[in-house]
Amino acid sequence: MTDVASPRNSAGRAQGMLKSAGVLWFLIATAGQWVFVYYIAMYYGRKSLTGDYGTINDRGLISGYVNGDFIGNLLFLSHVLLAMVMIVGGTLQLTPPLRKRFPALHRWTGRVFILIALVLAIGGYFMTWAQGVRLSDIGALGVSFNAHLIVVFAGLTLFYAVKRRIDVHRRWAMRLFIVANGVWFFRICLMGWYMMHQGPVGNTSQLDGPADIAISFACYLVPLAVLTLYQWASDSSSGLFKWSMAGVTFLGVLATGFGVFAAYLMMWSPHF
Ligand code: HEM
Repeated sequence: MTDVASPRNSAGRAQGMLKSAGVLWFLIATAGQWVFVYYIAMYYGRKSLTGDYGTINDRGLISGYVNGDFIGNLLFLSHVLLAMVMIVGGTLQLTPPLRKRFPALHRWTGRVFILIALVLAIGGYFMTWAQGVRLSDIGALGVSFNAHLIVVFAGLTLFYAVKRRIDVHRRWAMRLFIVANGVWFFRICLMGWYMMHQGPVGNTSQLDGPADIAISFACYLVPLAVLTLYQWASDSSSGLFKWSMAGVTFLGVLATGFGVFAAYLMMWSPHF
């Protein structure tokens, strides 16, 4: 006879709840990232395809398209257009049924994802510091540290894949997914912050206010910390740890949904 109140069953239920919370967060995040991609396609994709470069800066960019600057424009447009491929690729890469059914495809799309993440990080870093495309020095530090993490995590993800240490590889791939989507997290956090406070509080137009600086680091460091705790809880035999992290992940689902809704409303949908 099964003892329904046994600690083993309780830990099993906690593990199931933890997994469900993780899957739910991934689904919400995927939906939110695809809305971001739709915005990029509708705004930058459409203008690039029709050659309507003159109006690209209408949405208030830092530098955007500069008449006559061939190299700068090529860098900027390839940055935004490659972002679409990387974001969609990242969500497909972490989808278990696709990974299990098409392992050869997973390997190739994984290589492409890592390559594009590196190109975006290094290209973005170059635009920010070599071309001066930044609102303020201090405001640009968050995304720059994000770029360093992308390079390190991409290296570790690839290293463990080549070494066939698949479990460690999978964990670094998830961490890479978080930091490679740092700019998406920044947007949903900033817009969520504005919506929560009915306007800017601790923010400036140069993005160097205390709230801007905190958000520019916390937007990817907090999800990274939650993911790490989630992975530890999944390994742990403690039911309490698993239940607690399932609760934290469900809060993450709500926060992510709220941030995506705010970014959709204030940042992306006006350009659909
Ligand atoms: C790796 C993931 C990245 C993605 C997916 C990404 C995506 C984007 C997108 C979509 C834009 C257009 C802005 C918008 O319409 O909202 C953009 C612009 C830009 N990004 Fe990135 N980016 C990434 C990494 C970085 C990094 C690491 C840096 C800097 C260290 C950076 C620096 C910039 C700059 C300077 C612009 C131009 C802003 C302007 O002229 O207004 N990006 N990026």
